[in-house]
Amino acid sequence: MRSLASIALALAACGTDIEPSCAQSYLDYESFGAAFMSNWCTGCHSDAVAMRQAAPIDINFDTIDEVRAQSFTIVRSTTVDRSMPPAGGPSDAERQMLADWIDCGAP
Ligand code: HEC
Repeated sequence: MRSLASIALALAACGTDIEPSCAQSYLDYESFGAAFMSNWCTGCHSDAVAMRQAAPIDINFDTIDEVRAQSFTIVRSTTVDRSMPPAGGPSDAERQMLADWIDCGAP
């Protein structure tokens, strides 16, 4: 489990100095992020969904810009608290891939 501090450091580091492992990562929005959000999140967190199942009206992940803007809370809720998705679902490996993708700036 990653601490909030390590996530904050990793996110802060991204803007200035991309880790070498990021250059080799195949994870991008097209290959991973869009599918992860669609499989696990936008069933509730989407402008296009009428039955949001009480997901807050202002928390949507329909676009890459919305994902990037909320990347800190996305990583926290899926990998630290593990409160999202509420019914569980993504494997530990998928949650780690999400954190890695976002750590690299969610390309
Ligand atoms: C079944 C519907 C549902 C799904 C699927 C779902 N959420 Fe949520 N989400 C909610 C509800 C309801 C709340 C408000 C209650 C709460 O905060 O627990 C919420 C709140 C949140 C919040 C704000 C609270 C916080 O912890 O900061 C974030 C961020 C969030 N969800 C992220 C996600 C992510 C990322 C996914 C996909 C991995 C996801 N959610 C999947 C229903 C859902």
